[in-house]
Amino acid sequence: MSTASISNLEAPALGRDLGYKAFTIGKFRFERDEYFAHILYPMGRHLMPIDAFLRALMRDVAWGFFYGTVNFDPVLGTVNHYGTVDLFMGLCNPAYRQANRAYIENFPTKDIKAVFEGMLDDWTNEGFDPFAAPDETGKPYGPKRGNNRKAVQRQRVVAKRMVGLPGDTGYRTDANGYTVNRHFLDVPQDQPEVHAEPGFESEVHAFNLFGYLSRSDVTWNPSVCSVVKDSLMCPTTEENILPIFHGNDRVEWFIQACDEIIWEIEDGSTGKPRAKVIMKAGDVAAMPADIRHKGYSPKRSMLLVWENNDNSLPEKYQRGELKPYPAEF
Ligand code: PHB
Ligand code: FE
Repeated sequence: MSTASISNLEAPALGRDLGYKAFTIGKFRFERDEYFAHILYPMGRHLMPIDAFLRALMRDVAWGFFYGTVNFDPVLGTVNHYGTVDLFMGLCNPAYRQANRAYIENFPTKDIKAVFEGMLDDWTNEGFDPFAAPDETGKPYGPKRGNNRKAVQRQRVVAKRMVGLPGDTGYRTDANGYTVNRHFLDVPQDQPEVHAEPGFESEVHAFNLFGYLSRSDVTWNPSVCSVVKDSLMCPTTEENILPIFHGNDRVEWFIQACDEIIWEIEDGSTGKPRAKVIMKAGDVAAMPADIRHKGYSPKRSMLLVWENNDNSLPEKYQRGELKPYPAEF
């Protein structure tokens, strides 16, 4: 395997102009060609298929680096320290660490966010939507061809108020462009009847969550539908493969609302296989704080992710004050 020295980081690795910008942060350099993202760093170079790279990058950007670790693949990833972010190669990969090929740099969140946003913007071609299921989008390949700002600048939907209440911004209807997905044509679209006491019309509400989710135009992108103190209800629709391997820094709960997802669970720092979990409609699982996981959804399905936003949790798990799992049976 060939490796790059630090001086190689300043010179283009590809030597061909396909219209894409190169991006650097610290001692990392990112370039793209027709099919691949190339990542150069002081201990070597790495490449990822461009479609997988853009799908992972899209999530990392849209989720503000998420909770804990976002592994783009078994080598490249980020760790969120909530104010700063580690960008790493091989950190969660024992073979890289043993061969002294692991490398990590820490950046202020705003700096790495700016680089990642620029890369996502420049490298996403017209017609390719990194949030869409593979069967519902165009191809990302080839020389630079336009852009897809509308797709890559999509903000994660965070309810200001409960979906459907006056002041909420996330309601989905045919009229605002959210049509029922091809896999959810059998989902009833009727709404519950609400009979509020006079004066409480803007505070008492109910909505059809299945109908709401059936109209989601993105995959593997939990939206925050309700916030009660640190309890975040984050439903999402899933199809094909979760584009990242998520390394949890706290427990999260999954409720499978319909269809089926197969989860691959590994040890969060070594990648050692821990479990295969097949979740069918109605199944509930707690994902431990010390694992990483990737989901596979053969048909579009609905998943409720229940997150705990308490930012004191990661340290409590690290110090061993909390067990990595929430319940003992
Ligand atoms: C997760 O890593 O827990 C996760 C991320 C995105 C999803 C579902 C689950 O859509
Ligand atoms: Fe997760």
